[in-house]
Amino acid sequence: MRTQVAIIGGGPSGLLLAQLLHRRGIDAVVLERKTRDYVLGRIRAGVLETGLVSLMEEAGVAQRLHAEGHVHHGTRIAADGEMFQIDIHALTGKPVIVYGQTEVTRDLYDARQAAGLRTEFHVDAVQIHAADSDAPHVTYRQDGVEHRLDCDFIAGCDGFHGISRQTIPLSTRREYEKTYPFGWLGVLSRTPPVHDELIYANSDRGFALCSMRNDNLSRYYIQCALSDHPEDWTDAAFWAELRRRLPADVAANLVTGDSIEKSIAPLRSFVTEPMRWGRLFLCGDAAHIVPPTGAKGLNLAASDVHYLYNALRQFYEENDPEGIDRYSERALLRVWKAERFSWWFSGLLHRYPDQSPFDLKMQRADLAFLRDNQAQQQAFAENYVGLPY
Ligand code: FAD
Ligand code: DHB
Repeated sequence: MRTQVAIIGGGPSGLLLAQLLHRRGIDAVVLERKTRDYVLGRIRAGVLETGLVSLMEEAGVAQRLHAEGHVHHGTRIAADGEMFQIDIHALTGKPVIVYGQTEVTRDLYDARQAAGLRTEFHVDAVQIHAADSDAPHVTYRQDGVEHRLDCDFIAGCDGFHGISRQTIPLSTRREYEKTYPFGWLGVLSRTPPVHDELIYANSDRGFALCSMRNDNLSRYYIQCALSDHPEDWTDAAFWAELRRRLPADVAANLVTGDSIEKSIAPLRSFVTEPMRWGRLFLCGDAAHIVPPTGAKGLNLAASDVHYLYNALRQFYEENDPEGIDRYSERALLRVWKAERFSWWFSGLLHRYPDQSPFDLKMQRADLAFLRDNQAQQQAFAENYVGLPY
């Protein structure tokens, strides 16, 4: 079997890339380790930058996003029992859109299916061969049968635990990592959101985030110990802890209910360089992870897709390898800026086990500076809505 671009991973990066390529007549096959239902069952990001929205439009899959997504013009930050707003729209001319990653992925799968395009689910033993030659190929097993997929290029969109990154020899690959001494416990509930904007809260009991998916679906997170398990937390214990971390007037408005999903995610900053090896290109979580504070993970995957899609288009339509040759450099420039913002915003809002009284004073001063200083709010807003591609 042969295709132009073999895409490993049917998460948002792989699917968005495939759909954009399809619209330009470039053929791709998507190989996904899990089933469609499994991928759609994962509750992840919820805030989309306008850059990602534009890519969804270009891919022809933004109809439902525009009909059902919620436009947010500001975001809230709470600390010491008080809350202030950052008017991101007034500061940057751009909003963010609240629309779940699950829905983005569903829209992309539906479009792929409607166009009769190939997604191979439930594949295993995926291996990349001869990526540093002009004739790369991928082998995989499906239902016990071995397959070989010849291609021009391979897009490694297989997330942090995928095989694409590991294919790049250690002599070429350099990895940068920071782990954080806590996780996020997330709860999804069929309850109205506590506020019409997102609230990021710093409290002396740790971080909390109030987010949402729609008028009757809320998403909340609290900082928790890395050793915690979701089953350690009853719904009642979660709601009580969330309430304690919010300003009293916000907590008074919290509507609680049964959780419909509860999970814990560790926090990590990670970047691998380079993002290209021969004809293999890493894209999204396969190349980098950000801590979720600031909602950059999915959006950063989208900016990689933007650079890779345009590079492949330039190659196929203009016979020009410039975009391909500069993919890694271009993508990484933006990756490191998003890494910086996510790391800084995480540091602003969490409690660290080894934080000294001096460190706490610095955090307070940083928060007060953000509340009171227009230039700092401007810098925050530009990062929050997404730096330009
Ligand atoms: P993924 O979504 O990881 O997709 C990769 C796909 O590749 C998966 O479907 C996987 O099954 C498949 N795959 C893996 N290995 C193989 C293989 N060998 N062969 C074939 N297929 C393979 N971001 C935010 O902004 N906000 C959040 O709240 C948030 N929460 C998160 C919670 C969790 C638990 C995780 C893991 C991530 C979270 N993120 C969040 C980050 C965001 O979801 C990711 O940045 C985004 O999913 C990246 O998309 P991707 O397509 O690059 O990778
Ligand atoms: C959500 C997740 C985030 O990490 C964030 O910064 C904002 C919102 C969410 O899941 O809704």
